[in-house]
Amino acid sequence: MRNHLGQVRHLGSFERELPVLGRPEIAFVGRSNVGKSSALNTLLRRKAVARVSGTPGRTQLVNLFDLDEKLVFADLPGYGWAKVPDAVRDAWKPMIEAYLGERADLKLVVVLVDARREPQELDGAMFWALTEARIPSLCVATKCDKLSKQEASRQLGAIRREFRLPPNQPLAFSSVDRRGFDAVWDVIEEVAGLSPPSP
Ligand code: GTP
Ligand code: MG
Repeated sequence: MRNHLGQVRHLGSFERELPVLGRPEIAFVGRSNVGKSSALNTLLRRKAVARVSGTPGRTQLVNLFDLDEKLVFADLPGYGWAKVPDAVRDAWKPMIEAYLGERADLKLVVVLVDARREPQELDGAMFWALTEARIPSLCVATKCDKLSKQEASRQLGAIRREFRLPPNQPLAFSSVDRRGFDAVWDVIEEVAGLSPPSP
């Protein structure tokens, strides 16, 4: 799938009653503005399939994308915004809980964290919820282009320890220089049961 330039179809934005698709699904979650939509576009080699915005909290519904009827990507609304109305904030939790609870074909939740920030409590809560629900997760540290090699290594180490991640996580990622592209796809293809590209 990683080198595939076939059809990417936006299936819609949903709060509830998501369509049952019967295809492996990969969800992207993380704090608002962490770079979820950008990461999704980078992984799809598209400029703007998912809407990127400088305004935190722009993606407030679950956006589903179909990849050639083989795989589904779900762009989930970000958490932890400072400046959104209470009603929007209050709607987030039940929406995410319903999503995580009801998606039978969900194979992996990619939890994006900002490589520049100290480990965040809300991300810890997300990992805990995923572990409780026995949903496989992958921690991806975005915006690594903004850090030196040394800084990145220190930050990623702190994130790994805080969230008790396996030794290969978080994966270093950037939507600017595209590092981490293959590493993320390796995991997605594995959990989705899709064969990797032939050499
Ligand atoms: P919400 O939908 O509001 O929760 O945000 P999001 O997590 O989808 O973030 P989005 O992809 O919209 O990106 C937020 C901002 O961060 C934009 O200004 C992006 O250009 C920037 N950004 C995203 N990824 C990267 C990255 O890897 N490196 C750098 N330098 N900037 C990035
Ligand atoms: Mg977004």
